[in-house]
Amino acid sequence: MIYLDFNATTPVAPEAVAAMSTFWSGDFYNPSAPYPEATTARAAVEDARAALAALLGSTPDTVVWTGGGTESDNWALRGWWASRPGGRRRLLISAVEHPAVAETAAALRAEGAQVAALPVDDRGVVRLDALEEALDVSTGLVSVMLANNETGTIQPVAEIARLAHAAGALVHTDAAQAVGKIEVAVGDLGVDLLTVAGHKFYGPKGIGALYIRPGLELPPLLAGGGQERGRRSGTENVPAVAGLGMAARLARTWLDSGGPDRQARLRDDLEKRLRETVPGCRIFGRSAPRLPNTLALAVPGRQGAALLAACPGIRAGTGSACHHPDDTGSPTLRAMGVAPDWARGLVRLSLGRGTTAADIEAAAGILRRAALRSD
Ligand SMILES: Cc1ncc(COP(=O)(O)O)c(C=O)c1O
Repeated sequence: MIYLDFNATTPVAPEAVAAMSTFWSGDFYNPSAPYPEATTARAAVEDARAALAALLGSTPDTVVWTGGGTESDNWALRGWWASRPGGRRRLLISAVEHPAVAETAAALRAEGAQVAALPVDDRGVVRLDALEEALDVSTGLVSVMLANNETGTIQPVAEIARLAHAAGALVHTDAAQAVGKIEVAVGDLGVDLLTVAGHKFYGPKGIGALYIRPGLELPPLLAGGGQERGRRSGTENVPAVAGLGMAARLARTWLDSGGPDRQARLRDDLEKRLRETVPGCRIFGRSAPRLPNTLALAVPGRQGAALLAACPGIRAGTGSACHHPDDTGSPTLRAMGVAPDWARGLVRLSLGRGTTAADIEAAAGILRRAALRSD
């Protein structure tokens, strides 16, 4: 089996498993407990915070643990709405956000927020002219993802932040797919809030973080015992936090050792093989800045799920597993202006750090054979 669905989730790195192991039963203590036995758990939580902050080019006080990317996205949007600085009610998102942002925005609309979705161009990149036009004195928050989960398209978040700040709005970016795959430096991006999800970069599932820019007061989503300096109540998931901290260290090493370039070469090789051997094969977002591990494609006349069903040796993603006649395909591709027939065909191949040239060669062969079969 060739796993090419690393944007869905990654295995937990063995080093992260090892870092977690002492906190299940040995050092199981509550990190908030006052006695000396709890010191190790408390130190592990802070050590991991420092590691993630270093990966993001930030300081530990800006990192708050959450239950994953979905919670971080919900908190960023709902926290903004609850505080609504300046009484501004307008929320701008992009047309290609993950449901964790898009559905939260829809919920806030029902609570009175004025939500608009910024269009993307045919490469999947948010149109800055549309942003400039949409920004006004009532715009309170702009939330645009750093990298798209389906196409890997990287958004010009630094430029978006510059424009939004000039209009007096806050900026959130969902960096769940970017952290650990490309360099993500909050200072360079200039964002106020940034979402991290542990299981997308070899950490455990159900743990994430929200970066909160120094000086920004974001009302908590979860009230309770006041953990995380009152910003996120609930006893910290110490093993998961320790695992995420180790994953952040491993990501730093991988990024510094040329990992993204090596990965992009493999992805490009896969892309080349498919373009050369599968007639009419279409690659989405290839002219835009892209994650080094992601390849979004479609084969003429083939639904993504059907194509993958004919590739028993490959595990990959589709825009939707739905066969309903009303299914218009991947919303990301539709937002890029791709016709429903093609958008229903989306197959997302996403490489991991351990994907080899042999995996690529084998996957290209399997996909080619499946694409050339007429069923
Ligand atoms: C862009 C993006 N945001 C948010 C999420 C949700 O993260 P989590 O699964 O940690 O809740 C995902 C995961 O699929 C994602 O790809």
